[in-house]
Amino acid sequence: MDVTAELHAYYEQDKEHLRLREGAQRLEFWRTQDVLRRILPAAPARVLDVGGGPGAHAEWLAADGYRVALLDPIPLHVERAAGLPGVTPVVGDARRLPYPDASMDAVLLLGPLYHLADRADRLLALSEARRVARPGAPVAAATINRHSAVLGMIRLGQYVHEPDRRAARAAAEGGSMLSPRGFTAYFHDPDEVAGEFADAGFGDVARYGLEGAFWLYGDVDDWLDDPVRRALMLDAQRSMESEPSLLGVSGHLLTVARKQR
Ligand SMILES: C[S@@+](CC[C@H](N)C(=O)[O-])C[C@H]1O[C@@H](n2cnc3c(N)ncnc32)[C@H](O)[C@@H]1O
Repeated sequence: MDVTAELHAYYEQDKEHLRLREGAQRLEFWRTQDVLRRILPAAPARVLDVGGGPGAHAEWLAADGYRVALLDPIPLHVERAAGLPGVTPVVGDARRLPYPDASMDAVLLLGPLYHLADRADRLLALSEARRVARPGAPVAAATINRHSAVLGMIRLGQYVHEPDRRAARAAAEGGSMLSPRGFTAYFHDPDEVAGEFADAGFGDVARYGLEGAFWLYGDVDDWLDDPVRRALMLDAQRSMESEPSLLGVSGHLLTVARKQR
């Protein structure tokens, strides 16, 4: 069981450690942090960050006092994460976790589900997360929304170009797209994620739109640069994060379930 060569080729360019730290993607970072801080058990609980990359979230979780285990298939990511105090990283795959049953107080999958194009693989990843979670622990998974490729390309002006337009429409219709970054990504419908959680053995889910419509605003960077306006924007999105009619407009969705006791 291995991830694809295209995934290695993309992530070995070593750009991922900067992704959430600059520009409009800070909105995804701060909103993910905002939701996680409300749903996680109190520190020093043990948090497993599956597909944790170079550790953008592991870093602040460890600083908040959590004991963080991180797993990622890209050795370079694991090397970077190894430099973070309080984080124990290993090379591995979400579909086969090297941890005992019920050993984690929370499990995060902030990446693997959109990198696994086959539903059976996504169910394996969710089932493994459920296996290693202790009863009552939250399991939180990020997905990319089905229509975000069309929305994002229009925002950036790329939708006027073929083949970008064709690829974005294919993602909206069929779920998968060879992204301009060179790897195939899977784009979920929000209800589809809940169905995958159910088929992996979870009960009810809570859903959080991460960026809302704000990621589509031309001046979102200015709002994020200014601490006062940033706080207003984060608060506005928090007030409508679980509004069903708005879930699919976000670039990313966070779905959370608790392992049944
Ligand atoms: C966009 S990055 C997100 C990294 C980090 N979770 C974050 O939110 O900043 C997606 C991560 O998922 C990892 N990934 C891809 N396929 C995976 C798999 N089958 N199992 C575990 N991780 C995987 C990638 O190596 C990459 O580090």
